[in-house]
Amino acid sequence: MDRFLIRGGVPLHGAIPIGGAKNAALPLLAAGLLTNERLLLTNVPRIADIDTMAELLRHHGIAVEDAGHSSASLLVGGDITCTEAPYEIVSKMRASILVLGPLLARAGEARVSLPGGCAIGTRPVDLHLKGLEAMGAEIRLEGGYVDARAPNGLQGARIVLPFASVGATENLVMAASLAAGRTEIINAAREPEIGDLLACLTAMGAAIEGAGSDKLIIDGVPKLHAARHRILPDRIECGTYACAVGITGGEVRLVGGCLEHLGAVARALEEAGVEIAQEETALRVRRAGGLHGVDVMTEPYPGFPTDMQAQFMALLSVAEGASMMTETIFENRFMHVPELNRMGARINVHGASAIIRGVPALSAAPVMATDLRASFSLILAGLAASGETALSRIYHLDRGYEAVERKLSGCGARIERVAE
Ligand code: UD1
Repeated sequence: MDRFLIRGGVPLHGAIPIGGAKNAALPLLAAGLLTNERLLLTNVPRIADIDTMAELLRHHGIAVEDAGHSSASLLVGGDITCTEAPYEIVSKMRASILVLGPLLARAGEARVSLPGGCAIGTRPVDLHLKGLEAMGAEIRLEGGYVDARAPNGLQGARIVLPFASVGATENLVMAASLAAGRTEIINAAREPEIGDLLACLTAMGAAIEGAGSDKLIIDGVPKLHAARHRILPDRIECGTYACAVGITGGEVRLVGGCLEHLGAVARALEEAGVEIAQEETALRVRRAGGLHGVDVMTEPYPGFPTDMQAQFMALLSVAEGASMMTETIFENRFMHVPELNRMGARINVHGASAIIRGVPALSAAPVMATDLRASFSLILAGLAASGETALSRIYHLDRGYEAVERKLSGCGARIERVAE
């Protein structure tokens, strides 16, 4: 198992390339199940979660190949030869549930392992299942698996989501693209990654109205076809590196970053004292003065994303004054707090809120990553701390961030990966 050694205290200067969005790439790969023709995806991030989704698609009989001309391109497509998503793969990555809708819509059946809970919360999939049932699927839960059947195909339906779930919206849109008739999804999630999926499905021949809004209307078509799609830049990676500049000081161009998608994160960073400006092909991020405390609440898009909560909390831990961070999406997403406190932060958790009393400086300590975003919050703390921070269990980080040590050390950070 690898770990990172980080010697903090160096302001970052330079440029960091922002890769394709993990949370767009995963559903887009699943969309490859919707046609036997080839889907060419470009700007695919090189991260472990993509390898896991590719492994799952290959298990279903779908070819996933390097498109050759660019290492960041994948060609996806083929005939479905197996409709089971086994526990061994699904348990590695919850987003595997995204194959359920496409398998059911194209093959009329699917047996997908229930993903179960994960470190950040219980994360049920009831909304995915209820939506598919409304479209006529017969669903049974047996032996830890979702057994779904639609022998005569899926039918369009009106589905009201009680919560704007990202994954449920994606699964249902993909299923509805090949269903008979019209599907309406009310209170659909509006994350930019969903917009990216809708754009790709439309390029594949799907008939979808309402992109960007919370009401999607999908008129099912009998068949989808080949398409080419460039994955949008990762707004969470972008926000994470903006926090890195904020916590160390300095000035960095985030190449490929998009201010509009950063939305509430950019506003919170600016309120905390980090300047952000959109240039033609990059975001320029700079901190010249001090950091100030800010109150933030995580919400579905366009609110502040839960996937930025841990990183922003690291930044707030050294901001002047007190801040409050309220987590409304996942019930157990403060696992970075005890680790940050071991590095000298003063954070108290009360239910779904954390009070962060800013300290003048953090100090290095051995710390442990518990999940993807929590891992990066500890890197951020390490970049700001005096001394050498050893961060273990960084396999969590490799699931969703590409070339972390290369991107950071390219801007002057002292970070090194060592085999344990
Ligand atoms: C996606 C993202 C994840 C992000 C999350 C919220 C991907 C691959 N993952 O996860 O990084 O943190 O959105 O922005 O895109 N819920 C239910 N029943 C359901 C579905 C969800 O109760 O059937 C609850 C969840 O437990 C959670 C909340 O709804 O509390 C949000 O979940 P959801 O938006 O579905 O997140 P994911 O799609 O799992």
